[in-house]
Amino acid sequence: MLIKTAVRGGGGAQTLLPLLLLLLLLIVPFNNAAAASNSSAKQQTLQTQSDSYFNPKLPPKSLSASKKFEGSSDLVDLRYHMGPVLSSPINIYLIWYGRWAASHQLLIKDFLLSISTSDRRAAPSPSVSQWWRTVSLYTDQTGANISSSVLVAGEYSDTRCSQGTHLTRLSMQQVIAAAVRSKPFPVDHKNGIYLILTSGDVTVQDFCRAVCGFHYFTFPSVVGYTLPYAWVGNSGKQCPEVCAYPFAVPGYMGGGGPGALAPPNADVGVDGMISVIGHELAELASNPLVNAWYAGEDPTAPTEIGDLCEGLYGTGGGGGYIGQVMRDREGRTYNVKGRRGRKFLVQWIWSPVLKACAGPNALD
Ligand SMILES: *[C@@H]1O[C@H](CO)[C@@H](O)[C@H](O)[C@H]1NC(C)=O
Ligand SMILES: *[C@@H]1O[C@H](CO)[C@@H](O)[C@H](O)[C@H]1NC(C)=O
Repeated sequence: MLIKTAVRGGGGAQTLLPLLLLLLLLIVPFNNAAAASNSSAKQQTLQTQSDSYFNPKLPPKSLSASKKFEGSSDLVDLRYHMGPVLSSPINIYLIWYGRWAASHQLLIKDFLLSISTSDRRAAPSPSVSQWWRTVSLYTDQTGANISSSVLVAGEYSDTRCSQGTHLTRLSMQQVIAAAVRSKPFPVDHKNGIYLILTSGDVTVQDFCRAVCGFHYFTFPSVVGYTLPYAWVGNSGKQCPEVCAYPFAVPGYMGGGGPGALAPPNADVGVDGMISVIGHELAELASNPLVNAWYAGEDPTAPTEIGDLCEGLYGTGGGGGYIGQVMRDREGRTYNVKGRRGRKFLVQWIWSPVLKACAGPNALD
């Protein structure tokens, strides 16, 4: 079945119930509703009343095919290699490289600020902070968990592209060096991670061809310190079908099946970046110096906790299905909620407890 529908809230009697009971109703398991509403007419009605679950089958994303494990724990030898994880509060220093619209910056910051459970404007379930709980299940050899406190501690705009409009892995470190040399941007070698976000007209070595983002650490010879960092690029103009999947899908499989899904914030490139940012942050937190949590024997090409679940966004994913995600009344696709009413679509993360991909929108 391609489309499952579930009632989320709705119904006049609920207005009489206390708020807590309403919240309970909202998180009632969906099996009943999905089983009870399989006529398409009924689905139409339900969709106009509230957000609905659906599990679209899409053309596969070619880039991740070789790395996709689709939740089979037999194939996964994720192991801990004794290195540190990010267990103290995580301070993110954002580097905006190239020209960025303020609205896009706000959207990305809202995602980052939704991770932390200490934010009192926390979102309802399934939320971004619940999504991060899977990441927080990872520990280091002292038993310390990855922190659930994530702050945006500073920002720097390299609007004029100080290192040019094409970046390599090495010049990426020069971007960080330039940022930490600027006054408002401290070197925070205790809690800091550096997140470089390149705008749509900046090209990056291997971008679109082999990667949509990556994480690593800086060399003391370049930046002065060993600092964990990640880069994610806006693929909107360059390769949305590769890096903003499933908001753009490869064209070669035209005909049959649904096309690209509508992004939750109406921007294919930036909405696509959000899931890649989530992927890279989860891996940066669990493998910051590339000697902690990864699968495979080769630390230069580790398979990490995000790689294991690429392309999975909900229950019943795999075999071309992305999993049960939600569609709102405007037709926009999402699976987690964030602060200030935001919605995002973020891939699932490998859980060391369940030994499977996990996310807060799971239906079972
Ligand atoms: C659901 O589908 C099954 C088989 O396709 C059918 O027997 C049943 O009557 C349907 N139920 C509803 C509520 O439409
Ligand atoms: C810390 O990790 C352990 C092992 O995965 C887990 O059982 C525990 O719930 C985690 N604690 C927090 C606060 O996430």
